[in-house]
Amino acid sequence: MDSLSVEHLVGIEDLTKKDIEIIFKTADAFKEVINRPIKKVPSLRDITIANLFFENSTRTRLSFELAEKRMSADIVNFSASSSSLKKGETLIDTVNNILAMKIDMVVMRHPVPGAAKFLSERVDAKIINAGDGTHEHPTQALLDAYSIRERLGSVKGKKVVIIGDIIHSRVALSNIYCLQKLGAEVMVCGPTTLIPKYIDKLGVKVENSLQKALGWCDVANVLRIQLERQDIKYFPSLREYSMQYCLTKSMIDNLSKEIVIMHPGPINRGVEITTDVADSQQAIILDQVENGVAIRMSVIYLLASKINRE
Ligand code: CP
Repeated sequence: MDSLSVEHLVGIEDLTKKDIEIIFKTADAFKEVINRPIKKVPSLRDITIANLFFENSTRTRLSFELAEKRMSADIVNFSASSSSLKKGETLIDTVNNILAMKIDMVVMRHPVPGAAKFLSERVDAKIINAGDGTHEHPTQALLDAYSIRERLGSVKGKKVVIIGDIIHSRVALSNIYCLQKLGAEVMVCGPTTLIPKYIDKLGVKVENSLQKALGWCDVANVLRIQLERQDIKYFPSLREYSMQYCLTKSMIDNLSKEIVIMHPGPINRGVEITTDVADSQQAIILDQVENGVAIRMSVIYLLASKINRE
């Protein structure tokens, strides 16, 4: 059986191109499974997984839970808002208490960058990062690249622009690593204030004009403005941001070729993308969500195969 080079999924930065190809090949098999009338397989019958969410989530939390259930794992769910964290318990104490209940794998979303790595170095369980602050969101990048591969046949050689709030986005950073490892060209587009200074070191193109970026790309991945992470004003108003960076139907209709539209969700309709674009034939936003289950089944399965059961 193909095996990953890593013991945990902390970030795409740690993966090789071969790792990503193994994850995609395994996801292909699981995608076939979840489209059968009977969607459940016994692959993880003796594995227990804790889903620890210290930040809000809809897609990622539901998709991990569904992936685990489809493979017959036992699961426990933890939500920070209803936990003893409110009584002052630390992250490591919380996790060690959960692990004392014989947990094999932890899926964690946490607001602090590096939280997943911190945990992977301190606890005896497989760790999957479901988003750590503004750092990485590896399974989102994997499902995004997998969806491009599904729609366009391959990722290699494709031109992908990531639009919007790059500076606060873990999706942007993980996408940049993943797409480049698979041979795509990557551009970021947005106002200068929302593009980090370290972008030069990542080997991506930078464009402030949305029209020019759209004229260049095969795929546009549109990001949400993360007001909850903005402690200062990065642009005068949402209205002004939308006037320059909201993806509209007339913009994509005026292009000489049909581009693929993506969004990781949640969408702020009318802010970064209009409803007619988000719901158009060119948009693969719900395909991304569907593929998220197969990708997460793949990652969990591949890491579970590395658990020592002696
Ligand atoms: N794309 C994404 O991570 O969405 P959620 O925050 O709803 O999980």
